[in-house]
Amino acid sequence: MSETAPPALVDLDTQFVRSRFPAFSSGSLADWSFFENAGGSYACGHTIDALTRYYIETKVQPHGVYPASATAGAQMDRSHQRWAEALGVERAEVHFGPSTSMNTYVLAQAITGTLGPGDEVVVTNQDHEANTGAIRRAAQSAGATTVEWQVDPDTGLLDQEGLGALLSSRTRVVTFPHASNIIGQENDVQLLTAMAHEAGARVIVDGVSFAPHTFPHLPDLNPDVYLFSLYKTYSVHQGLMVVRNGWIDELPNQGHFFNESLLDKRLTPAGPDHGQIAAAGAVLDYLEELAAHHSTQEMSLREAAEYVSALWRRHETALLEPMLERMRRNDRLRILGPETTNAVPGLHRCPTVAIVPRDRHPADVAASLVAAGIMPGVGHFYAKRLVEALGVDAASGTVRLSFVHYTSMADVERMGDALEAALS
Ligand SMILES: Cc1ncc(COP(=O)(O)O)c(C=O)c1O
Repeated sequence: MSETAPPALVDLDTQFVRSRFPAFSSGSLADWSFFENAGGSYACGHTIDALTRYYIETKVQPHGVYPASATAGAQMDRSHQRWAEALGVERAEVHFGPSTSMNTYVLAQAITGTLGPGDEVVVTNQDHEANTGAIRRAAQSAGATTVEWQVDPDTGLLDQEGLGALLSSRTRVVTFPHASNIIGQENDVQLLTAMAHEAGARVIVDGVSFAPHTFPHLPDLNPDVYLFSLYKTYSVHQGLMVVRNGWIDELPNQGHFFNESLLDKRLTPAGPDHGQIAAAGAVLDYLEELAAHHSTQEMSLREAAEYVSALWRRHETALLEPMLERMRRNDRLRILGPETTNAVPGLHRCPTVAIVPRDRHPADVAASLVAAGIMPGVGHFYAKRLVEALGVDAASGTVRLSFVHYTSMADVERMGDALEAALS
C-alpha cells in the first residue's frame, strides 16, 4: 500500500457486515435495535466458529507433544502474532488477560513496587474506574502522591494545558482514556503521551471505548501500555494489553518465579483461557474479509486494519450526526459531552452518547425504550467520578446509547423515534 494510493473510502456495506454477525438473525435478538455496544458488542461469526472449533477439536492442554495439543498451541500463538501485526507491535508486547480490569489490577501491583515517597502519579476523573482505581491504590500503598487531571465540568473534556500544569520531574506514571465511555470523545493520545514522555513519565492508555471503532497503530500513539477489551471488539471475553518501550523489564514479575524470563507470563499470573485466546484472532479474519469486500487492493493485515477502521469511522459519523442533531433539538434532555461530531477537530467522536432526561428518571426512559424494541444502557457505567464531575447524580445515572459499525440508519431512526416518545 505504501507504493500505491490508499484504497478508496466507500460506503460500508452494512448488509454484508450484518450477515457476518449471527445475532442479527437469531430468534432472541433479531427484532431488537442494540444500543448498548459500549457495554459489549456482538461477536462476529468468525469468533463464534473459532471458539466452537477449538472446543470440539482441540480442547486439550496446549503446546504439548501430541497433535491436538500442538494445534491448540499454534492457534493461541497465531492470535498473539496476528494481533501484534494488526496493532503494529511485537508479538512479545501482546498480553491476554481475563479482562481490562484484571490487566490494570495486575499492572498496578507491579507498578507499586517501582514507586515511593516523592513520586507522583497523574490520573483522571474521565476514566472508567478500571483505569484509575487500581493505579490510585498503587500510589497510595507506595507512599506516592496521586494527582488528578480533571475534566471541564461543562464539556467533560480533558485538555492538554491541564496535563501540562501537572507534569513535573516527579511524575512517574500518567493514565488516561483514549476515549471516555460516557462522552465518547477521542483524546489526542499521541500528543498527550509525548508530553508525559517529555517529563520522563510512563503512560497507560485505556483504549476500551476507542478500539471498537478503530484498531489503532500503537507505535504512532506510543503509550507504554495500551489496553482494551476484546469482548467489545467483536471477539472473545478477554482483555488485551500491550506493554511497550521496555517498561516490562523495569516492572517486577507478577507470575511464577520460574516463568520470569517469559515476557508474556510476567503480567498475566492467571492460567490463560486457552480457547478464548485461540479464538481471539478470528476477528482479524473478519476484518480482512471486510477489507477484501470493499476494495480489490492487496493489503497487509495492518493496512486492512487501517482501511476498515476508516470505513467504520466514516459510517459511524454519518449515523451519529443526525442522531446528535435530533437530540440537540430536544430540550427534554441534556447530552453529556460534545454535542457534535467535530467538537475536537481531527479526533473521532465515538458513537457513545450519554444523555440525562430533564423531566424523567433515566431508568423510566430506559424502560420505555425497551418497550419500543431498543436495548439501551442506564447507570454510571463505572465512570462514577466523571458523571459526578458533570453534575449528574450517579445513583440515577444516565441513559447511554452507543453503537458501532454494524448499526444501521434504520436502527438510529427507530431509536430516535422511541427516545422522543419516551421523553414526551
Ligand atoms: C472505558 C472502559 N475501560 C475499562 C473497562 C473495563 O473493562 P473489562 O470489563 O474488560 O474489565 C470498561 C468496561 O466497560 C470500559 O468501558
